[in-house]
Amino acid sequence: MIMTSLPTPHHQQTLRSVEWSGDWQGKLKLLDQTQLPAKIEMVDCVSVAVIREAIVQLRVRGAPAIGIAAAYGVVVAFQESIADAKVFDEASKLLLNTKIEDLRSSRPTAVNLSWALTRMSQSIADVSLPADAALVGKTLLDAAIEVHEEDKRMCHAIGRFGADRIADGSGVLTHCNTGGLATSEYGTALSAMLTAQDQGKHFHVFVDETRPLLQGARLTAWELMQRKIPCTLICDSMAAQVMREGRVQAVIVGADRITACGDAANKIGTYGLAILAKHHKIPFYVAAPSSTFDVSLISGSEIPIEQRKEAEITEAFGKRTAPEGVVVYNPAFDVTPAELITAIITEKGIIEPVNESNVRAMLQK
Ligand code: MRU
Repeated sequence: MIMTSLPTPHHQQTLRSVEWSGDWQGKLKLLDQTQLPAKIEMVDCVSVAVIREAIVQLRVRGAPAIGIAAAYGVVVAFQESIADAKVFDEASKLLLNTKIEDLRSSRPTAVNLSWALTRMSQSIADVSLPADAALVGKTLLDAAIEVHEEDKRMCHAIGRFGADRIADGSGVLTHCNTGGLATSEYGTALSAMLTAQDQGKHFHVFVDETRPLLQGARLTAWELMQRKIPCTLICDSMAAQVMREGRVQAVIVGADRITACGDAANKIGTYGLAILAKHHKIPFYVAAPSSTFDVSLISGSEIPIEQRKEAEITEAFGKRTAPEGVVVYNPAFDVTPAELITAIITEKGIIEPVNESNVRAMLQK
């Protein structure tokens, strides 16, 4: 672990959640998001086991950032698979595939993880074995860099489409963290806000704290404050009241997996927000890159929902708050049905209304 000085929200700094240094024999570092905003710590990813642990523990989190970390994770897996050998052979390929599957099983809901790993495998699918390890390593690193660079382009394009839905002088409500920390840079839902600010718009963001792990309070509020975008932190349970008071003109959230019909899995609490938005006649937008779509699934009921450990609710951040032995249910995500989503903002354009033919047509662009 590397520790640098404590960040303050008003101190403008660009933190990258995923960093690769050097050639294919180089190193992966991940920003430990569990320590934010109190400390900036980088995790030295010396092995696939360390990367897997970082994904499971949410040190790196947010669907696109998980995908990018996993893509570089395959380069680390390759380093481990060939050890000191100069050749990539059948045995090392078997080992590499086992490590890729280890990474794939780290979190089940965010499809960007599986999407990135499949792309990495495909990048060397045509290599005939045995092969020169340096050539394969370079091919893998190039593929990981492309996943990373493509995410940057997608985030900025989402921002440009999404900013059009933020009116000057309006209030926007968001949930969880969808900013640069959750992606390569700028983010998805948050990219719409940063881009609107770049365009000179003034607006106010209501940030759901996002129980139980507080990605909104710890990460989104911090990112918005760094950018000097006016924001107010609220408990998740306050959203209805804030909407009733007329302070919210748009809800914009991210997604972890979107099916062919437009049902969208996102951080637990999103579905409730969509119902509230409908009741208050507030547009409800989901912003996500095409890497978050899984058109092999039609209905949201097919999306695997990650179940997380009880301690996240009974003793979040180290302090026991519930009686010993209490029964706990802790799904990390819920699914918002397409009918509650006004539009899905992608890097290719805006899907509106949200239905299967519009989703498929947009993804084919
Ligand atoms: O459990 P997390 O923190 O990885 O959940 C993240 C979210 O739900 C985000 O909204 C989603 O990944 C979109 S990230 C741009």
